[in-house]
Amino acid sequence: MISKHCRLQKAQFGKLAFFYLLFVIFYLLFTLMTAIDKQKIAILLDIASERLSSGYHTAEKEYLFTDDEPKERTADTIEQIAQEIKVCRNCPLWEKRTNAAPGEGVLQPLVLVIGEGPGEDEDRQGRPFVGRAGQLLDKMLDSIGLSRKTNCFIANVVKCRPPFNRNPYPEETAACANYLERQIALLKPKFILVMGVIAAQSLLQTTDSMKKIHGKFTEISVGGMRIPLIATYHPAALLRNEEYKRPAWEDLKLLHSKF
Ligand code: URA
Ligand code: SF4
Repeated sequence: MISKHCRLQKAQFGKLAFFYLLFVIFYLLFTLMTAIDKQKIAILLDIASERLSSGYHTAEKEYLFTDDEPKERTADTIEQIAQEIKVCRNCPLWEKRTNAAPGEGVLQPLVLVIGEGPGEDEDRQGRPFVGRAGQLLDKMLDSIGLSRKTNCFIANVVKCRPPFNRNPYPEETAACANYLERQIALLKPKFILVMGVIAAQSLLQTTDSMKKIHGKFTEISVGGMRIPLIATYHPAALLRNEEYKRPAWEDLKLLHSKF
């Protein structure tokens, strides 16, 4: 009788110990995870529970995990920023994206090129400026000795494609600005070349037309650095209108004269 009671107690103790161990393992795993890992798990659980209950997935929720360890933020890298962008839901553009295009190129570039946002090809490939406008951009850069393979980094003000290639709304560029700021602070480019009026207006906080904005350098302050910035016509605008080719070429020559 006594030994049966003991066996029962032992079994209960074993169960309790097992659950306690499980709890400790999950607790440790959770504290070791970054905000991105937590966000991924939350999204996964969310999709799983919706599928189980209704058979459909209609996730639209936002998860606001922050890294508990402030140390992680000091270890900011271009790769880390790219990982965050890929799972970002800070503005509604995440809903329609196939892939975010965080940016690509060399670290510490001579020139950081900043466009408006991914188009259809960029959304499919998760890379910036790879469609027709991108091919023209590569030619324009090449004409003054620049390339994303050797001395440039290419990014956009928004990292997810606006539906039907519409201009990004100010709330969307504002929501995405932190990624670009962190990219600039890490990359420390010698110059910034902005492609197109939408990106230029957003970065220079102006409503002026490209006719007024282009053709001169403006210094911008990011992370304690002052970086000379020049804006010119978007390659997509050059494809639509031959008239912009001349002033765009003048802008590129002006940039080239500085290095
Ligand atoms: N247009 C942009 O502004 N950026 C891209 O990445 C592609 C097209
Ligand atoms: Fe996040 Fe920027 Fe994509 Fe909006 S556009 S979801 S802020 S990465």
